[in-house]
Amino acid sequence: MSETIKAHGGTLVNRLVTGAEREALLEKAKQLPSFSVNAWTISDLDLIAVGAFSPLTGFMKEADYRSVVESMRLSDGTVWSIPITLAVEEQEAAKLQIGQQLALKGAEDDILYAILEVESIYKADQRLEAVKVFKTDDEAHPGVQKLLSRPSTYVGGAIQMVNRPQPKKFEEFYFTPSETRATFAEKGWRTVVGFQTRNPVHRAHEYIQKSAMEIVDALFLNPLVGETKSDDISADVRMKSYLVLLENYYPKDRVFLGVFPAAMRYAGPREAIFHAMVRKNYGCTHFIVGRDHAGVGDYYGTYEAQEIFSNFTAEELGITPLFFEHSFFCTKCGNMASSKTCPHDKADHLHLSGTKVRGLLREGKCPPKEFTRPEVAEVLIEGMNEQLVSQ
Ligand code: ADX
Repeated sequence: MSETIKAHGGTLVNRLVTGAEREALLEKAKQLPSFSVNAWTISDLDLIAVGAFSPLTGFMKEADYRSVVESMRLSDGTVWSIPITLAVEEQEAAKLQIGQQLALKGAEDDILYAILEVESIYKADQRLEAVKVFKTDDEAHPGVQKLLSRPSTYVGGAIQMVNRPQPKKFEEFYFTPSETRATFAEKGWRTVVGFQTRNPVHRAHEYIQKSAMEIVDALFLNPLVGETKSDDISADVRMKSYLVLLENYYPKDRVFLGVFPAAMRYAGPREAIFHAMVRKNYGCTHFIVGRDHAGVGDYYGTYEAQEIFSNFTAEELGITPLFFEHSFFCTKCGNMASSKTCPHDKADHLHLSGTKVRGLLREGKCPPKEFTRPEVAEVLIEGMNEQLVSQ
């Protein structure tokens, strides 16, 4: 295990139950009332169980939830910016009692994933939650939309996981935090920078990753592959694009690719803090925050996700954020740059909107190589064609 960085809150949580204890729980669960959970909740369960959400040991109880919503801290003061909650229909919640256990089963597959200790049942003010967490209660915001579509009664308590969700594809890139920590230690990496992404890695992403790689031992490329909004590029296509990119442009001995199977919240600044804490749990010492991290539309200022870090001390965070300015290719400099390094006019900078890039790819055209590596563009074009065929 890596000695270099402590898990958030001090101890890496493990709520996976195995062996005889698991057998006993499986037997016991037969007598327990059960509750159906969707893919998002199963992903939260798994991330809690493997310690990615350390120090959480379950879904938030009322005091933690209220404290997180109000002040980005758990009730004991530990930094935590995003509520992790289990929403239950009111009539279901009315049947529950504090102290009982609940069997959590997949809504789609009826698999028993976890047992929940019911420790807290409470009513959430979801409008307030939206305004605090997403800085808006506009229902056009994908995170707000998701939040308001859930019941407003939450059930909190510790969980024990008996069956983990099985990845359907790219299984070899799923690692628990204890596995990534062990790998980083084995490779002798003392400093590792984590990179969150829900997009293909374009040249701007590559530039900030490589700038960071100049000052740390290695890069942990950690794409989010849980639920995203429907117009984001699918995780399968993205995974293929990361593999060709790494194969062609990155030193093999200084990059580690592993997925982050969480749902995307689109909470901008607050999600940046959350993303950093989770990457600390995976063993990263540094974390990249660029322009409009985890943002959507125009809800957040370009650098708000960086500014939010100033609310906390370095000790409280326990991971070093690396902030990067908006990066681009400058035709006059002839290289990737940002306003920190380039003296030229905006007109000299290559700028392509996401819509423009998607349009080009859909027509089977590669964006300029200064924007996206051709190998990556080819994978994306192929992926778009397959998606069109399967629609
Ligand atoms: S995110 O929702 O996962 O943040 P994305 O995959 O686009 O979206 O971004 C991954 C990381 O790269 C984030 O830290 C983001 O701020 C950063 N980033 C994306 N594009 C740029 C850019 N042109 N310049 C600087 N940073 C960027």
